[in-house]
Amino acid sequence: MNVAAFTQLFITEQQPGIWLITLNRPKALNALNRQVLEQLHSAIVWIENQPDARVLLITGSGDKAFAAGADIAEMKDMNAQQAREFSQVGMTTMHRIESSRLPVIALVNGFCLGGGCELAMSCDFILAADNALFGQPEVTLGVPPGFGGSQRLPRRVGPGMAAQLLLTGEKVNAEQALNIGLCNQVYPAQQLQERGIDMAITIAKNAPQALYHCKRLVQASADQSIENGCRMESDLFGLSFATEDQTEGMTAFTERRKAQFTGA
Ligand code: CAA
Repeated sequence: MNVAAFTQLFITEQQPGIWLITLNRPKALNALNRQVLEQLHSAIVWIENQPDARVLLITGSGDKAFAAGADIAEMKDMNAQQAREFSQVGMTTMHRIESSRLPVIALVNGFCLGGGCELAMSCDFILAADNALFGQPEVTLGVPPGFGGSQRLPRRVGPGMAAQLLLTGEKVNAEQALNIGLCNQVYPAQQLQERGIDMAITIAKNAPQALYHCKRLVQASADQSIENGCRMESDLFGLSFATEDQTEGMTAFTERRKAQFTGA
């Protein structure tokens, strides 16, 4: 498969090892239909298979939206069985992003609603443009979220705030999203991509296996007792001493030079 096969996405290597997926349905505000979800899943796998890939960024095309949700036109006439299957296609893609070997950053440029917000929350963290608007408005359409929003939103912002957003269906702007911990930073819209790439470059300088361990440990912290989480941390800390990158990182420190990590 080559990148031309992804008709609903643009895939570009912005800097060595820094890959950007851009959802490409701007006329439909990058709404997530089955084809987009399946291509997104394949794109993650494709990028992970590039041996030098270090960090993945996900954004939306156009200046209005990251993604305005699951595709309402496609869902409207589904029966219960079809809707459940569609939900599972979305869930599978979100889980695949979450479990990627790469750090994944959402660059939210505009509407980030419903399935769009669920996609952003499946990334390790979210950077937002000052025109971003977040929300889970599914209840206004007669349904609950279907791509994991009811589970990932409380883990991001706490159960009380998640319940408020899920039950009112109201949207929050970038500054409010920052205040409740839904996004990490807010930048002027024109700078979002550049600042995201800068942050990805900083991350990419670090040891790939250590990054993956951090990612897994942060995710595990949501579901484990502190004892189990700390045990897992000890295991992964120990395991990292079997890597060349640990030797390189600590040797470089003592030799007062910058470490050159290879992922080995
Ligand atoms: N699905 C399909 N098409 C969508 C869409 C969606 N989620 N959101 C927007 N579009 C389409 C519109 O139908 C419109 O298409 P046409 O030009 O062909 O009519 C185009 O995108 C532009 O949208 P608007 O004209 O509505 O633009 P606007 O600036 O006036 O409003 C908006 C923007 C507030 C985001 C509005 O489009 C909107 O409310 N969209 C729906 C948001 C939503 O409810 N998302 C949740 C979906 S359900 C879900 O995601 C379930 C789940 O968890 C799995």
